[in-house]
Amino acid sequence: MLAMLCWFLFSCKSQHENTLKHEIISTKIIGGGCDGCELMYIDMPRHINQTDTSSGWYTNIGHKLHVTGTVFKDDGKTPAPDVILYYWHTNDKGLYESKEEGGARNHGDLRGWVKTDVSGRYSICSARPAPYPNDFLPAHVHISVKEPDMPNEYYCDDIVFDDDTLLLPCLNRYPAANRCGSGIVRISLQNDVQMAVHDLVLGLNIPNYPHMK
Ligand SMILES: [Fe+2]
Repeated sequence: MLAMLCWFLFSCKSQHENTLKHEIISTKIIGGGCDGCELMYIDMPRHINQTDTSSGWYTNIGHKLHVTGTVFKDDGKTPAPDVILYYWHTNDKGLYESKEEGGARNHGDLRGWVKTDVSGRYSICSARPAPYPNDFLPAHVHISVKEPDMPNEYYCDDIVFDDDTLLLPCLNRYPAANRCGSGIVRISLQNDVQMAVHDLVLGLNIPNYPHMK
């Protein structure tokens, strides 16, 4: 998970011709591969909504987390509809605990899927995660993306919280890759809910991404 959180910058070269683009799609893994992202397909619902609510929303009173945002195409301004975001994160003990056996057990029970609407919008209701016990990594929410026209999923920078005291020391050691843009969010309180806005840009700093001209 360290590699996913603190990934160094890759340079993503633009592709100049459609033929080359299609060649790259067929021969290289977009995003360079991802340890565990394939678990997004386990138990994935056939119909995915723009909003998802995990069990953590109901069980972690006082730590509710509501993340909203817009997913943009690689031009950074056109909303991207029908993009699936898969999220997973630790519980309030910093653990990926699961009642399930096998399957996606390694991602714990606090996981889910959203699909962006026509405006590229999504909404995740869950619980604010805690950092791993006795570790230097800040608390984080993993995000994996599956675009409708791409052959494979890829991961984006984790969502991390700017009030987390572990964040800056980690970034000093391992600069963020800014995959899909920065994952750092600022929390605002609305009653007992921690609100965060997190926008993503598809393909930004993603290796082998077939950028459109
Ligand atoms: Fe993690």
